[in-house]
Amino acid sequence: MASSFNLHFLLAFSTILVLFLFGFETAGTVSAVNRAPFSQSATVLILPVLKDNTTSLHIVNIRKRTPLTSIPFVVDLNGRFLSVNCDKDYFSSTYNAPICRSTQCSLVGTHFCQKCSSSQARPGCHNNTCAIITTNPLNRQHVVGEIAQDVVAIQTLNYQASNPGRFVVLRRFLFACVPSSFLQGPLPKYVQGMAGFDHHPVSLPRQIASHFGFQPKFAMCLSSMNNQNGVIFFGNATYRITPENDFSQALRYTPLFIGSRGEYFIPVKAIRINRKQIQFNTTLHSKTMRTGGTMISTTSPYTALEHNIFQVVTQVFAKEFSAIGASQTNAVSPFGVCFNKLPPPVPKVTIGAPIIDFVMQNRDVTWSIYGSNSIIQARPGTWCLAFVNGGYNPRASIVLGAYQLEDHIVEFDLARSRFGFTETLLSKYTRCSQFNFNSTT
Ligand SMILES: *[C@@H]1O[C@H](CO)[C@@H](O)[C@H](O)[C@H]1NC(C)=O
Ligand SMILES: *[C@@H]1O[C@H](CO)[C@@H](O)[C@H](O)[C@H]1NC(C)=O
Ligand SMILES: *[C@@H]1O[C@H](CO)[C@@H](O)[C@H](O)[C@H]1NC(C)=O
Ligand SMILES: *[C@@H]1O[C@H](CO)[C@@H](O)[C@H](O)[C@H]1NC(C)=O
Repeated sequence: MASSFNLHFLLAFSTILVLFLFGFETAGTVSAVNRAPFSQSATVLILPVLKDNTTSLHIVNIRKRTPLTSIPFVVDLNGRFLSVNCDKDYFSSTYNAPICRSTQCSLVGTHFCQKCSSSQARPGCHNNTCAIITTNPLNRQHVVGEIAQDVVAIQTLNYQASNPGRFVVLRRFLFACVPSSFLQGPLPKYVQGMAGFDHHPVSLPRQIASHFGFQPKFAMCLSSMNNQNGVIFFGNATYRITPENDFSQALRYTPLFIGSRGEYFIPVKAIRINRKQIQFNTTLHSKTMRTGGTMISTTSPYTALEHNIFQVVTQVFAKEFSAIGASQTNAVSPFGVCFNKLPPPVPKVTIGAPIIDFVMQNRDVTWSIYGSNSIIQARPGTWCLAFVNGGYNPRASIVLGAYQLEDHIVEFDLARSRFGFTETLLSKYTRCSQFNFNSTT
């Protein structure tokens, strides 16, 4: 009874916490966690990011604790912090849980003191540390955890060296130590937590940036190939994926907005299929338009469209695709339209499907989705449009999902509030999985 009361109490006040955090940030206060002397322009950090073959979620292995152990986390673009399962094998000589009302807890935005009824203290179970609510993005369930600090090590990128970059250490990285009940939903079994990449001060990219003193900016290049690594860059990186292909000058930019729950949004003004604008009821879209209307999510495997938009897009796409030789068949869940015969492959993008354009602030800034990001093989002999129905009342009328982000470089520049993106790397016969972590690139 008591613990359920506490949870409700915490939940009721979480809105106030968010407001507090927001105020805190706009005041321009920046984390001063364990700052190390570092040459800002020279330092770029990288993390390999694996595409899981059963869930299509993208997984980062982060070296953590003492001794350093590689821990697998789901990449949650809109998550607030690193959440770690502390119920399973958390052994570390450097674990530390700050006391409640400490500056660390204030940075996270929590002022609640945690009590643990067990007599045996362990990671996640201490008295007078700070309690934090964590939400699982896959099932929206909340759990209460303890704010803690421990060592995190991240690899540097050195294009000049012929050796893999050395690891640099953040000694007091803040994270949420959560019960194993947090790890529910369609998750790979080996995963031990979620890595939040949102704009709040204790997200993974913000803590890295404030620790090393560089601009809060990161970029993802997610692999489309199962069991293969793409790369995440932190800092002012050069996006050289292969020795021949540097995509740094290939980005186009659109404003980046923050939604009411801290999610990343971009403005999509129109959708075109084969360059023809499609007509849909824009009333729903305009509801989230003040933040751009379109949310980006790495925990949604496919782009989800509001019901009415989904209906129009699938109909027009099927008609255009059939006109060039695809033949439609029964849909395979969760998709809305599928085909059992494809037109002949085309160079670069491999599948010659109608081009879906998301038109941003103007026609010159368009995200074009080609066959390699719009068509998925759902089962042998059946290919589907890799978009799903988001229902009638979604959080955003368009949620741009992981399948559509793969083999693109997407940059989140939090200092300049802008989102940068390339066209598919396949247009240069390159994939995110070609980034070489072991040698000069
Ligand atoms: C980022 O790098 C570019 C090119 O390497 C450089 O011109 C620019 O000044 C750097 N920006 C910052 C903030 O360091
Ligand atoms: C996924 O990859 C693992 C390890 O590489 C392999 O053992 C497993 O069979 C694969 N599963 C599927 C469904 O392809
Ligand atoms: C927390 O305090 C309670 C008494 O208020 C005590 O019973 C419990 O053992 C303590 N837990 C830890 C982990 O110290
Ligand atoms: C557009 O959608 C809104 C909200 O669902 C609805 O009230 C309105 O009648 C729709 N307009 C048209 C023209 O269908």
